[in-house]
Amino acid sequence: MSVSEIAVHLDPGGLVHQLAGDVRTGLGSTPKVLPPKYFYDARGSELFDEITRLEEYYPTRAESQILHHRAAQVASLTGARTLVEIGSGTSEKTRLLLRALSAAGTLQQFIPFDVDPVVLQGASAAVAAEFPGVKVSPVVGDFERHLDKLPASPRRLMAFLGSTIGNLAPRQRAEFLTDVRRGLVTGDAFLLGLDLVKSPERLVAAYDDSRGVTAEFNKNVLAVINRQLDADFNLAAFEHVARWDREQEWIEMRLRSVRDQTVRISALDLDVAFGAGEEMRTEISAKFSHARISEELAAAGLRLTHWWTDPVGDFALTLSEPA
Ligand code: AVJ
Repeated sequence: MSVSEIAVHLDPGGLVHQLAGDVRTGLGSTPKVLPPKYFYDARGSELFDEITRLEEYYPTRAESQILHHRAAQVASLTGARTLVEIGSGTSEKTRLLLRALSAAGTLQQFIPFDVDPVVLQGASAAVAAEFPGVKVSPVVGDFERHLDKLPASPRRLMAFLGSTIGNLAPRQRAEFLTDVRRGLVTGDAFLLGLDLVKSPERLVAAYDDSRGVTAEFNKNVLAVINRQLDADFNLAAFEHVARWDREQEWIEMRLRSVRDQTVRISALDLDVAFGAGEEMRTEISAKFSHARISEELAAAGLRLTHWWTDPVGDFALTLSEPA
């Protein structure tokens, strides 16, 4: 079988338009804020890839370790015929699931879902080559808006790995989980990867590594805005900040203006003033506990059935089903 035509629910112009709106709103707020989804241009994706290999950044390794142990169990528990992967940049972990489902003899279709058509083409071609009997149906979309656009498919396993759900604020997260629930029927399942609450020291180190890769990743969002919206952010005039918020139980990444400065965003005909020491939030990365996620899943109509962690309990892989 082969790769079917890519289904596009996002036009490229639409993304820049959305960025423009988000930048105008976010830089007009107090405190200033930028959404994390714009980190991932080609350079940002490369930097994130580098982050996943850092000594301090344990989540990717921990999740891979769990998947190595549990993929076969996930396959036998779900009997999935379709694997839907939301935000499917991460092909190595997907491959573990595809292999397990393929070995179990149930896999018929793979639906990678991502905002980036280039990433999708690459991932789809690679999967089609390794799994010739599997129909690959890529979908371009935003997981906060287009989950209802997935093609109809039997016995679905929806996977959302990497703790990307941690980038969503609690209300957005509730909406997202409700959308996931709407995409499932009895017999389907939801596989969710979650980074867990742990010592603030280790959490901060994971988001403020000694080689400065995360700092560069954080500042890259300014380069994206410079290019897409014809702005003149000076990346050297901002410092990377990572804080643990113990009330909210999330890591917050910020960019701190090292001096008073004004940034011109030509495409928005906008001048934005930053005070010396002013901090702008660029990402939240929420950390979870069993109690918290099972409540949130339940509120969305999902029942957590399995909870697997790596040996030291840094990260969890969870399996849920429609309640
Ligand atoms: C890809 C969203 C899971 O929150 O850990 C890594 C992104 N930010 N280092 C995370 C990220 C800083 C990452 N996610």
